[in-house]
Amino acid sequence: MVKIKVYGNQKIDGIVPISGAKNSALPLLAAAILSSNSLKLKNVPPLLDVSTMLDLLESLGATYQINQDSMYANTIELKADSIYNFTAPYEIVKKMRASILVLGPLLARFGKCKVSLPGGCAIGVRPIDLHLKGLEALGATIDLSDGYIRASAANGLKGSDFDFPTTTVTGTENVMLAATLAEGTTVLKNAALEPEIIDLANCLNKMGAKISGHGTSTIVIKGVTSLHEAEYSVMPDRIEAGTYAIAAGITRGRVDLIGGNFRKLLPSFIDKMEKAGLRFTDIENGLRVEYSGELSPISVNTEPFPGFPTDLQAQTMAMLCFVNGESNIYENIWENRFMHAAELMRMGANITVFQAHANIKGGKRLKGAPVMATDLRASISLVLAALAADGSTIIDRVYHLDRGYCCVKEKLANCGVTIDRIS
Ligand code: EPZ
Repeated sequence: MVKIKVYGNQKIDGIVPISGAKNSALPLLAAAILSSNSLKLKNVPPLLDVSTMLDLLESLGATYQINQDSMYANTIELKADSIYNFTAPYEIVKKMRASILVLGPLLARFGKCKVSLPGGCAIGVRPIDLHLKGLEALGATIDLSDGYIRASAANGLKGSDFDFPTTTVTGTENVMLAATLAEGTTVLKNAALEPEIIDLANCLNKMGAKISGHGTSTIVIKGVTSLHEAEYSVMPDRIEAGTYAIAAGITRGRVDLIGGNFRKLLPSFIDKMEKAGLRFTDIENGLRVEYSGELSPISVNTEPFPGFPTDLQAQTMAMLCFVNGESNIYENIWENRFMHAAELMRMGANITVFQAHANIKGGKRLKGAPVMATDLRASISLVLAALAADGSTIIDRVYHLDRGYCCVKEKLANCGVTIDRIS
């Protein structure tokens, strides 16, 4: 099995082109199911999760063509004019929970589908009850048996009002995708505000959907009968950008993040990192992040957008291990997202976890050790910690990294940092 060897005491200094966002590309790919006409997506990141979604779409009967625009971006043209299979099997869904995003589109266009229940995962129980309740509000009949969701709407979905009791990103996306082809108007209240929701709505509108209010907590979708051909470019990955910003902090280096308005995409994160002492400067088409003197401890609360993203929590914890003083992290989205703490402690970190709270007594040197990646963001947090530690670190289970970070080795190499893949 491939592992990553990270050499310690390295400093990042260079330019990182930020790839298209994984968490935007996945729902955009699922959106292709809604139409028999082609959807051309640009700036799609070459990631394992994208390949898994393409495998799933292909198994349903969709076809696609990939054009490699650069090492970091593909254009993918999808056509779903010959869907013949309406089942998303357990074998695929267990690999990638975002497979659940085919539920809304299949149901809306074909009136039936069978999608495996995703089950829990390393970061929490991760229920999908709100996806199902939202679809039921649109008139779907849902039956859960044998580990599968069987959804049907023999006479098509009907627009309706639905108020999400808790904000959910993929839940909002799934119901929005379905409502696009429902008869009449759907009003989604307490909808998620994440930029990836805006990206999906913008793409659907380019395909001919009638969506407004995206980016606010009330999204209005006037159903249409069909969608047309469209071309759309995936937004930049704000979590990848935040990860490299932390790389500058943890290695006392500097990085130019290129390809987006990251201040707008990461408001609370940048605010917190500025409080910790990192310097952010606007540059052409991006943001420069610099270490400019000793960092201060901070307190972080993860929250839905525009709050501090849970997907940058593990990386932030890695950085705080190197910051003199006591920092605190409160994880408010996922009930079990501190698995990386135990691995950081194997490298010498002083972290106490109690339920949703992690206390980090930082400032001690960390030392390379064999560690294990438990999920995507945990895996990159270990890479970051290892870059700043003494000695080298071997990270196992790096397939997590390949699911969501494009060309890490190459992007770091462009900034003078070496990591190796070893067998
Ligand atoms: C999305 O997951 C992201 N995934 C996650 O990114 C991210 O951590 C998360 O949003 C929060 O920002 C994709 O976009 C593909 P939620 P999602 O539904 O949509 C509860 C990464 O590392 N909930 O917004 O699955 C749930 O338990 C990943 O890239 C219900 O109770 O997250 C959680 O506490 C991991 N019932 C909260 O809502 C539901 O039906 C938010 O979850 C749905 C969710």
